[in-house]
Amino acid sequence: MCGIVGYIGNKQATEVLLEGLSRLEYRGYDSAGVAIFSDQHITVKKRAGRLANLAGVLEHSPMEGQMGIGHTRWATHGAPSDQNSHPHTNETEAIAVVHNGIIENYMDIKQWLQETHKIVFRSETDSEVIAHLIAHYYENDLKVAVQKATARLQGAYAIAVMSKDEPDRLIAVRKDSPLIVGKGENENFIASDIPAILKYTRDVYFLENGELVDLKREGVSIVDEFDRPVEREVFHVNWDLASAEKEGYPHFMLKEIEEQPAGVRETLNQRLTAEGNLNLEGLTMTEDDLAKVNQVVIVACGTAYHAGLIGKALIERYAKIPVTVDVASEFRYRDLFVDEHTLFIAVSQSGETLDTLAALREAKRRGARVLTICNVVGSSVARESDDVMYTWAGPEIAVASTKAFTTQLMAFQLMALRFAELRGSMAQEEIRTVIHELKKLPDQIQQVLTMKDEISNLANQHFHKDKVLFLGRGMDSDIALEGSLKLKEISYINSFAIAAGEMKHGTIALIEEGTLVICLATQKHVYEKTLSNMKEVKARGAYVVAIVQEDAEQVDDIADVVIRLPKTSSMLTPILSVLPMQLLAYYTSIERGNDVDKPRNLAKSVTVE
Ligand code: AGP
Repeated sequence: MCGIVGYIGNKQATEVLLEGLSRLEYRGYDSAGVAIFSDQHITVKKRAGRLANLAGVLEHSPMEGQMGIGHTRWATHGAPSDQNSHPHTNETEAIAVVHNGIIENYMDIKQWLQETHKIVFRSETDSEVIAHLIAHYYENDLKVAVQKATARLQGAYAIAVMSKDEPDRLIAVRKDSPLIVGKGENENFIASDIPAILKYTRDVYFLENGELVDLKREGVSIVDEFDRPVEREVFHVNWDLASAEKEGYPHFMLKEIEEQPAGVRETLNQRLTAEGNLNLEGLTMTEDDLAKVNQVVIVACGTAYHAGLIGKALIERYAKIPVTVDVASEFRYRDLFVDEHTLFIAVSQSGETLDTLAALREAKRRGARVLTICNVVGSSVARESDDVMYTWAGPEIAVASTKAFTTQLMAFQLMALRFAELRGSMAQEEIRTVIHELKKLPDQIQQVLTMKDEISNLANQHFHKDKVLFLGRGMDSDIALEGSLKLKEISYINSFAIAAGEMKHGTIALIEEGTLVICLATQKHVYEKTLSNMKEVKARGAYVVAIVQEDAEQVDDIADVVIRLPKTSSMLTPILSVLPMQLLAYYTSIERGNDVDKPRNLAKSVTVE
C-alpha cells in the first residue's frame, strides 16, 4: 500500500513527481523519496515522515533533471526511516527502484546476494533486494535485467526502475499491485493511480498482471510476461482533478460524506431505463446462469464486508438465494464449499485489496462465477471478475470509507432486485415499488446530512469517552458494525458493535454511569425488542443515542437523544442509518485533534496480506 510515480519528458521531473506523490499520499504516508537522472548519474533524496519533509529538502537543494521516479510509503518491512524509504539503489547507484507491494521470498534472495555476491544492504526492506537483483542481471539492456530479476520474485509488486546508463528510458512492471501508464506529448508517466498524473494527461493505459512497460519520451511499449507486444486501448479519464481534491471542504472525509446523495443517485440512475425498469449493464448473468446458482458467497474486508452483510439480507429477502458472507483474510483458509454453482461476489472500493483479490482467485480456481462491486475502473479486482457493477461514487480519498459504502449498498439493492427479476421471486409490481422508494433516497440522504450541527454537538459532549457501544438487531446490527469501525478508525476510541440481544449474555457488564451507547432501532419487526435493550442499558447508567425511523414511538421516554430518519422501508434504512454515525465519527475525530483523512497506522488501500 504505497504509491509510486515515474516521469520522462521535458519538464523538471522533481515538480512532476512531487505533484504525483501528493495525490498518492492516501496510499501511505510515513516516508517519501525521489530519484532524478541528470549528468550521467542518479541522485536520490528521501525522508521519513510526510511528503512535506521531502518537499522541504528539495526546495532547499533543488535537483535538475527530466527523468525520475518517486515513492510514498506505508511501512510493511522496516520502520519508517530515511534509510528504509524508497527509492532504493544498488551499491554503485547505477540502478534506482521504487516498489509497491511485498516480496515474499526476499530473505532468500537477500541471503544469496549477500553470501554469493557480497552485497551490502543498507535497509531492512524487502524492496532493496529488487535494486540489487536488477543490478546483478544488468548488462546493457534495462528491460532484460528487469525481466530476469522479476522472474525470481514471489509476491506482489508494482516497480519503476531507471539506470544511469540509459538516460532516455524508464521501465515499469506489475504483479498484483496496481500500475497505470499516462500518455503525454513527448512525455510519459507511470503511477499507482490516476490522480497522480491527472494534472498532466487524461489518457491512460491500465497494465494487466505480468505486463511491463518500456517508457520513452517519444512513446511507450507494453509487453506481457512472455515478452510479447501488447496492444492496449487508451482509457480517457473523464473525472477532473477537482473531484479528487477537497473543493473547499476542511477534509476529504466531509466532502465525501456530502457527496453521498450524488453518488447514490448516480449508482442508481445509471441502471434504470427511462421507464424506470432495471438496466444493469455490468451484470450479464442470464436467467439460466442464475438458475444454476445454489449459493451466493460475498467476500470483502472492513467497510466493504459490512456492505456484504447488508447484501446478504437483501439477496435472501428479494431473490430467496442462500448467502454466506466472509472476511477475505479468513475465506481462503476455511473448508470451502465453492464450485461452479456458486456465485462469488467481491466487494472492494479500491479494487486493490490483496486479501479480497486472493479470495477472488481462489473462488475462480474452484469454478465459481465472480461478480464484483467496485469503485475504481480498471482496478485489479474488477479486471479479474466475470461481471463488475461499478459504484459511481467518484474517487474516495479519505481513509475512512463513506460514499463508497452507501453506493455499495445501492448496488446491492439493484443486484438483489435483478436476481429477483431473473428468478421470478418478486412480481414486477413489487420491484417497481422498491425502485420507487430507492429513487427517494438521495434526497433523504441530503435531509439526514442537515443534522450535522446536532451530531457535532453530540461529539462535543462525548469525544472524551474511552468506550462506546453500538447496538442493533437484524440489519441494524450490521450497520452498528460499520458505525463502530468508523468511530474507532478515526477517533481511536475503543468502540465495538454487538447484536442488541447478545448484551445480556455478558457484555452488559461493561455498562457504567455515562457509557455512551448508540442504539439503532429502524427494523420494525424487532423494534419492541430493541426498545427493551435500550431500557436494559439505560437502567445501568448508559447515555443512549437512538437512531430510529421518523414515526417511531415510545423511544423519547427511553433514550437521551433521538435521531429520526426520513421514513422508508426497513430494507432501505441502512443507507440512511449509517449517516449519523459517519458524522459522529468525523466530528469526534476533529474534537480529539486527529488527522481525519489520514488516521494513524492506516492507509487507504491495503495491498498487502
Ligand atoms: C474503511 O473505512 C476502512 N478504511 C477499511 O476497512 C476498508 O473498508 C477495507 O480496507 C476494504 O477496502 P476496499 O473496499 O478498498 O477493498
